[in-house]
Amino acid sequence: MSEDKVSIPAQSDGTLVTKADAAPGETLLKVTGLQKHFPIKKGLLQRQVGAVRAVDGIDFEVKSGETLGVVGESGCGKSTMGRLITRLLEPTAGKVEFEGQDITHLGVGGMRPLRRDVQMIFQDPYSSLNPRHTIGTIVGAPFKLQGVTPEGGIKAEVQRLLSVVGLNPEHYNRYPHEFSGGQRQRIGIARALALNPKLVVADEPVSALDVSIQAQVVNLLDDLQQELGLTYVIIAHDLSVVRHVSDRIAVMYLGKIVELADRESLYKAPMHPYTKALMSAVPIPDPRRKNAKSERILLKGDVPSPISPPSGCRFHTRCWKATEICKTTEPKLVELKPGQQVACHHPENFEDQAPQDTVLLTVAKEAAELVADEVLAESAETSAAVAAEVAAEEASASEEVSASEEASASEETEADGQESTDK
Ligand SMILES: Nc1ncnc2c1ncn2[C@@H]1O[C@H](COP(=O)(O)OP(=O)(O)OP(=O)(O)O)[C@@H](O)[C@H]1O
Ligand code: SF4
Ligand SMILES: [Mg+2]
Repeated sequence: MSEDKVSIPAQSDGTLVTKADAAPGETLLKVTGLQKHFPIKKGLLQRQVGAVRAVDGIDFEVKSGETLGVVGESGCGKSTMGRLITRLLEPTAGKVEFEGQDITHLGVGGMRPLRRDVQMIFQDPYSSLNPRHTIGTIVGAPFKLQGVTPEGGIKAEVQRLLSVVGLNPEHYNRYPHEFSGGQRQRIGIARALALNPKLVVADEPVSALDVSIQAQVVNLLDDLQQELGLTYVIIAHDLSVVRHVSDRIAVMYLGKIVELADRESLYKAPMHPYTKALMSAVPIPDPRRKNAKSERILLKGDVPSPISPPSGCRFHTRCWKATEICKTTEPKLVELKPGQQVACHHPENFEDQAPQDTVLLTVAKEAAELVADEVLAESAETSAAVAAEVAAEEASASEEVSASEEASASEETEADGQESTDK
């Protein structure tokens, strides 16, 4: 292994150096058909008897400078996805491209330069910092691992990083137990920023913190992004954490992305029933929207096992709109509105994709009992409104086509009005 010495110039004004090679808006990360199946082995011979399908075929892109929020209930594969894109885990299938380079199966040597560009912040600020090492050693470790010597030396650079994340640089020699949870998460962030990365994957960065501290850490991440032009993938189990920071949000359910949309669209008009359920659990801070969508949707039971996920749409065992087609045919993630992809046969706020299928499954009827009447009424109303809109558009389009051929005839008909009926 070669010890390539790279010098990262530190700026004297206390800000970090921004890398200029990935233009904002360009695709930084591209994921295609990504899968991770953890084998389940049994017996003396350790024969594989099944697999946990933690991530089961997902596609998405992350643009330079944006924040992609990833949400979903516990066990739906968010952390596994984070570890796959940072290549801490080897994918079972699919492709991961970073800046156009296929990094899916790069070995340790091939990944070494990439380790600088892609960093991860972990959920638990207690267990992710080695209690026997000082803060200086922890934040400076990436330089040693990469054989990188920052200008001015490691100590000066680490102290600068500590001040960038709002910690006292004098605390360089202290140990993790001397810091609060929020401060420890700042240490984790300083460590992640040490090598001036392009992409930071933060797995539940504030879940372990007190609510009052959560906002501070979220704001810090936000400020750092503005200053350093960072790109984030922020994983959280509910929508309240990602709502303010994300440009786009991917909603995961049982190893799949069920909806992927820009924040505005997702909050204004969620299309996947699961997104709607997740959103109904988020408190609405805007008093003007107090009565809108504030009814809580209770989901029936737990997330099913990813060892044998339900057939068709994986959400059909808990969805209040599920019909036969949901049980038999997996809905594809398709762009129904510009910037809004959804995988559902009977989406909310949009034209029904399987209007012929109207009979609810028994499980759906049971699930519907847990959904407030107002929500069901609103759902029916928006779907009916969209259906009427679509019908009207179709009608006017077909009228336009025939208009030129039948112009004179239709004029006569209109003039005659009621008299044009049978004699
Ligand atoms: N190393 C592993 N071996 C076997 N199964 C695993 C492994 N890691 C994760 N899993 C399983 O994969 C599924 C997805 O786990 P993952 O940790 O990615 O979910 P998550 O969405 O991050 O959940 P949480 O919100 O609880 O963090 C779970 O069923 C989990 O038990
Ligand atoms: S309506 Fe059908 S396809 Fe859509 S989420 Fe419910 S079960 Fe899945
Ligand atoms: Mg997780």
